Amino acid sequence: MKKCINNILSLLFVLSTLSLFALSESFSCENPIVLPTSDDNIILPEIYDQDDDPVRIGTTYIIMNPNIGGGAVYLDNIGHHKCPNAVLQHIPVPDLMGNGTAVMFVRDKSDDGEVVRVMTVVYIKFFVETTPLCVNETVWKVNDEQIVVTGGEVGNENDIFKIMKTDIKIRGYKNIYKLLHCPPSVKCNAIGGTIKDEHFRLVTVDDQHFVPFVFIKA
Ligand SMILES: *[C@@H]1O[C@H](CO)[C@@H](O)[C@H](O)[C@H]1NC(C)=O
Ligand SMILES: *[C@@H]1O[C@H](CO)[C@@H](O)[C@H](O)[C@H]1NC(C)=O
Repeated sequence: MKKCINNILSLLFVLSTLSLFALSESFSCENPIVLPTSDDNIILPEIYDQDDDPVRIGTTYIIMNPNIGGGAVYLDNIGHHKCPNAVLQHIPVPDLMGNGTAVMFVRDKSDDGEVVRVMTVVYIKFFVETTPLCVNETVWKVNDEQIVVTGGEVGNENDIFKIMKTDIKIRGYKNIYKLLHCPPSVKCNAIGGTIKDEHFRLVTVDDQHFVPFVFIKA
């Protein structure tokens, strides 16, 4: 009996952190849930959108800076390139306002529907109509100047991003996160912004200067 109660407590713990699918696989008193014991197995918190739904791989979202003076993230061509490749943030001034470009969080293994958890690997891909010429210019990367652009590749470990929880409170918003660029073997760099050539560009910044972001279903 005692063992079963422990299992139910374990279940409640898992219930607060795990997807329903995993739960249905594991709830039974005969097959007790094994709680994570090593760092490798810790169940990381889910990322949530503005509807309080978990953010999922393969679903479209608008990434938005909820600060006053913030705006949605979008893709544009600002340099007479053959393809749009600038990852910009709208700002509430005429000509720079807008509703953003939808993105999907993706992984190299197809796991559509899987919940995105804090500090797990994602690639960020704009979900836009594109021309055959520009099909490879939708995935985010950070270029040599530490500016976020497209032209990354799903599966290229230099183009890995992660999402981290913050304690930031902004009126009218919840579930506010920090984006990190996490190439291998260097520490993750926070994503922030800078005004360059009259556009708000996403760039890597030192940790205190990150831009807060929320995710809104697109
Ligand atoms: C943003 O969306 C709203 C509502 O759909 C629309 O009225 C508005 O024109 C859009 N703004 C821009 C800059 O596209
Ligand atoms: C896009 O990438 C694929 C795979 O690397 C490549 O075969 C294809 O030629 C690229 N397309 C363009 C337009 O660059």
